[in-house]
Amino acid sequence: MSEKHCLDLNKNGKMDVYEDPSQPVDARVEDLLGQMTLEEKLGQLSQVVMEGNSDEVHADILRQGRVGSFLPAWSAIGKADLRNRLQKLAVEESRLGIPFLMGFDAIHGFRTIFPIPLGMAAAWEPELFTKSHEVSAFEATATGIDWSFAPMVDLARDPRWGRISEGFGEDPYLGGLYAAASVKGFQGEDPSDRRHVVSCLKHYVGYGAAEGGRDYNTTDVSEYQLRNNYLPQFHAGVKAGAMTLMSAFNCLNGIPTSGNRHTLTEILRDEWGFNGFVVSDWASVLELVEQGIADGPAQAAKIALEAGVDMEMVTSSYIDTLGEQLASGEVSQETIDNAVRNILRIKFARGIFENPYVDETWQEDAFLKTEAVMLAREVAAKSCVLLKNDSDQLPLTKDGSKIALIGPLVSDKDELLGSWAGFGKGRDVVTLEEGIRAKLGPNATLTVCRGCDLTTGRRTITKTDGSIVEDPDAPVDQVGDQEFAAAIEAAQNADVVVMALGEPRGWSGENATRTELGLTGRQEELFNAAAAAGKPIIVVLFGGRPMSVVSIQEKAQAVLMAWQPGVQGGNAIADLLFGDQTPSGKITATFPRTVGQVPVHYNHFNTGRPQYQEYRDSTHLPLYPFGHGLSYTSFEYSEVELSSTSISVGEKVVASATVNNVGKRAGIEVVQLYIRDIAASRVRPIRELKGFVKIELKPGESRKVSFDIGNEQLSFIDEIGNVLVEPGKFAVWISKDSASGESAQFELKP
Ligand code: NOJ
Repeated sequence: MSEKHCLDLNKNGKMDVYEDPSQPVDARVEDLLGQMTLEEKLGQLSQVVMEGNSDEVHADILRQGRVGSFLPAWSAIGKADLRNRLQKLAVEESRLGIPFLMGFDAIHGFRTIFPIPLGMAAAWEPELFTKSHEVSAFEATATGIDWSFAPMVDLARDPRWGRISEGFGEDPYLGGLYAAASVKGFQGEDPSDRRHVVSCLKHYVGYGAAEGGRDYNTTDVSEYQLRNNYLPQFHAGVKAGAMTLMSAFNCLNGIPTSGNRHTLTEILRDEWGFNGFVVSDWASVLELVEQGIADGPAQAAKIALEAGVDMEMVTSSYIDTLGEQLASGEVSQETIDNAVRNILRIKFARGIFENPYVDETWQEDAFLKTEAVMLAREVAAKSCVLLKNDSDQLPLTKDGSKIALIGPLVSDKDELLGSWAGFGKGRDVVTLEEGIRAKLGPNATLTVCRGCDLTTGRRTITKTDGSIVEDPDAPVDQVGDQEFAAAIEAAQNADVVVMALGEPRGWSGENATRTELGLTGRQEELFNAAAAAGKPIIVVLFGGRPMSVVSIQEKAQAVLMAWQPGVQGGNAIADLLFGDQTPSGKITATFPRTVGQVPVHYNHFNTGRPQYQEYRDSTHLPLYPFGHGLSYTSFEYSEVELSSTSISVGEKVVASATVNNVGKRAGIEVVQLYIRDIAASRVRPIRELKGFVKIELKPGESRKVSFDIGNEQLSFIDEIGNVLVEPGKFAVWISKDSASGESAQFELKP
């Protein structure tokens, strides 16, 4: 059988060590590595786009062992049979039979689409990430996916940046909990379980700090900020067992993150002991050339590999150049071997050598299962945030009233899927109109009018010669003045107006930066005209980012932030509007009043002159602070009680407050614990979230909520990674959001 590998027996009639699942993973890795040619090794370092149209496109490189991983093009998604045929070429027709991993972005669902992560984050329930990603893994594996490029754990403080939608918001502590919960959901208890997937923490690191909010842009983040704000979510994900990380696009403090040895090796491997592998982002190895630290693909490959990027996504600078660089002594054998080891280790742990194929019948019963759809409804309802509810305008009554439902998003399906909708289909979505109709009694009337489009043709673009012109590809408002007028008439004739407004889903997510954070197209005009009708207005706001909607806050009676809520959006929102579910979400990213306030986040430092924060033309206060969100009742908080006003390092103080439901309805509240280190060796944020608990209270009911505060809550990290707990005074708040409440103080003694 000359070169061709026989899966069962080697020349001596024995099974190779690497083929024997009873052998320890490291022994299998070393055995296989020892048998690999240079070409096969470089193949493992390559991720290739899988085309959906023909097996032949990939046959040769698979037989030669030149594919470590595939990333399906749209045409290849959902084709388990294609994956199996290609895998067969890798396993049965390549010399050593090394299977590939197939990676894909299941960011907020695969076929059952959940709310965008920024929405899910607003539920303050880490388990929802676990449960929803378990569903995604179950669905994705049915199509042959082994590996999800998620969660995105990038902290973001700039809502202009469209990818704020993919993350958890602006808090590193909450982000860490969500990162760990996400990894658990994707990977499950046993990474070799075929209905779970390998998880990938991305984008390592600092990507969310892009200057001007422009995607892919340069970041300058001090080591102190990096360690306290941008790294903790990654660290939490690594501790939770994430098997892979993705290096990012951004340049960090002068060194692009896909060529940054400090973050990829010194911190990730040497400090944290990460044992999995790092994949680059799409072409980010080759982009080191454009970024200006490499003079061509060869140098880019050398820099990235030596920095710690094990697998190159899409571009081929590794496979094209590392052979020659090894021969010339530019790159060492050890460096190449280590990257291969990292990848093989995960492949063995994934169990893919034992189970390279996917059961093609899984797909018959994998998608949109009843429990998954019910979960999507629950998560969507929990992710919505009631931003305003004057005079208990919500909930609405189901019968007897005339409702006008107005706005471009009243019956849209695709828009509700959100910015990273995987294999999701618009036809799976329940629209807001459908959700509301399903609730109404026989004596209610519903008039539905879009009123205007989400965007108009008024968007401009800058041409290469510098001239600014109207974008010929921008969607034109198809709705027209007649329907605009009809919508206003409907508002005039209604008892209550529900408006479905927001931004297009394509205006958030990757490469979707905005300079304005308000409504798009003619929606502001539509809103103002509808408000002038004088009827109570409830705005359901859809968007992938914190939005600056000052006139809505001023004129609407109620505002519900619904994000991009996924397949069950319409039902979930209707559940809330009519009181079948209780709003409980709280925002995890500050909503600015105006884009001029950006970046604005709750956990900032004090200046020496905190009294001078006002702008000449605006308050410095945001529209809605981090942690804000209402229920259909009101809660009162007692003063914070401390078990002691003086403790020593290593001891704990218990902080408690009593929360009372003083309204007429049952309600759900996320009670938040914040601390401030009043005088430390480095300036600490004016408040930091350190704990929370979600409680449900009946009218008149009260509950005492307590939090332990010890070293974990009082520590911070210095510029070189030391965890410091410094004696001195600390302030503690137990409050409904990051901007309210009175603090109590205690002293930490050495
Ligand atoms: C580029 C994106 O930045 C990344 O998040 C994604 O995982 C890859 N493309 C693959 O789709």
